[in-house]
Amino acid sequence: MKNRPIWIRHASQMVTLAGSSAAPLAGKRMSELGLLENGSLWLEDGLIQMVGTTDEVAAVYQERLGEAEVIDAAGKLVTPGLVDPHTHLVYAGSREHEFAMRLNGATYMEIMNSGGGIHATTRATREASHETLFKESLQRLDQFLLHGVTTVEAKSGYGLTLEAELKQLEVAKALHEHHPVDLISTFMGAHAVPPEYRECPDAFVDYCVDVMIPEVAKRRLAEFNDVFCERGVFTPAQSRRILQAGIKHGLLPKIHADEIEPYEGAELAAEVGAVSADHLLRASDTGIVKMAEAGVIAVLLPGTAFFLMAASADGRKMIDAGVPVALSTDCNPGSSPTVAMPLIMNLGCLKMGMTPAEVLAAATINAAHAIKRGHEIGSLEAGKKADITLFNVPNYMALQYRYGVNHVHTVIKAGVKVVE
Ligand code: NIG
Ligand code: FE
Repeated sequence: MKNRPIWIRHASQMVTLAGSSAAPLAGKRMSELGLLENGSLWLEDGLIQMVGTTDEVAAVYQERLGEAEVIDAAGKLVTPGLVDPHTHLVYAGSREHEFAMRLNGATYMEIMNSGGGIHATTRATREASHETLFKESLQRLDQFLLHGVTTVEAKSGYGLTLEAELKQLEVAKALHEHHPVDLISTFMGAHAVPPEYRECPDAFVDYCVDVMIPEVAKRRLAEFNDVFCERGVFTPAQSRRILQAGIKHGLLPKIHADEIEPYEGAELAAEVGAVSADHLLRASDTGIVKMAEAGVIAVLLPGTAFFLMAASADGRKMIDAGVPVALSTDCNPGSSPTVAMPLIMNLGCLKMGMTPAEVLAAATINAAHAIKRGHEIGSLEAGKKADITLFNVPNYMALQYRYGVNHVHTVIKAGVKVVE
């Protein structure tokens, strides 16, 4: 049965981000939100049919106003559904005891090198059935939606064998089919060197390149290919091999770059033409310039820096250097167990020197571009998917100012009200 059209009217403020579908916003353009007062949207057939003021939309649809379900957005902020372009959504178990260890002085890398960290979640994920993984990840996805997020990228990387990586990617696919939130999958077999390869990490890189990447691509279970390029994990040379193998098989490159130490990850991202380089807490100035030149999107994860008690990436510097910046939760059980995209925007302002306008562009249209969906989501324009979030604040500045509260009022996904 066809859904009734939805008519959103009288929005106190609507953030359209019109004109940003072709390329991510960079520099001063990140502040061009395309604001509308007394804003209105006509949603039908899963798509945005018209964007304008309430009077403009009412005039065009005057014959059909009675058909529509009306959402009165007086006093509300209306934005594109938020997009999270970097998560490790699908995993089993929990690591709160490691958090306690870190509060007592242990470092993230020490915990990982002694068999915890990513290795602990890998053990739990390998053991978990498809059903358990689905159920645990579904809870997180529900919470994403309650925080206004309508599209989520999800990485594998807690399997580290072909079979277990495929299981994670199959669960992501099942969640995508089952849940209103859209999932975009990334293969990240090169997330850690598993213990069985500790003595011969290059053999694990061979396994990624020769076995896992071709099979994942053949089964069309992922669009992107990511690697944890970090001292003690994968070297830049190993990371290059992994990303190039992905490119050869049609998987677009992404990279966990310069998270804990400067390691020329940003430079490598520019060299291989990565869609995004993520983290970048310790990115070099040269790396930032190279990213700007190559058009690599910086996906910044201030929740991770906050939770690891580390200094945040310099978002201000990257924007001023012309790098398009996107924001993400990094949702994962070790370095950022959160789904709260609005809090990530707060941290973008408070910890990375970004403005309230920039963080909104970063969590919508630039995040959409970071997963190659800029033509489809991330802005409010006729023809785009009707993914919309209404916040119970009158304007976008108040969304950052009244921090630490979930202001989400209503979420519409593909033209259907899914949170109210
Ligand atoms: O993005 N850095 C590598 N991967 C994740 C953490 C994964 C984990 O600790 O389980 C990250 O921070
Ligand atoms: Fe990550």
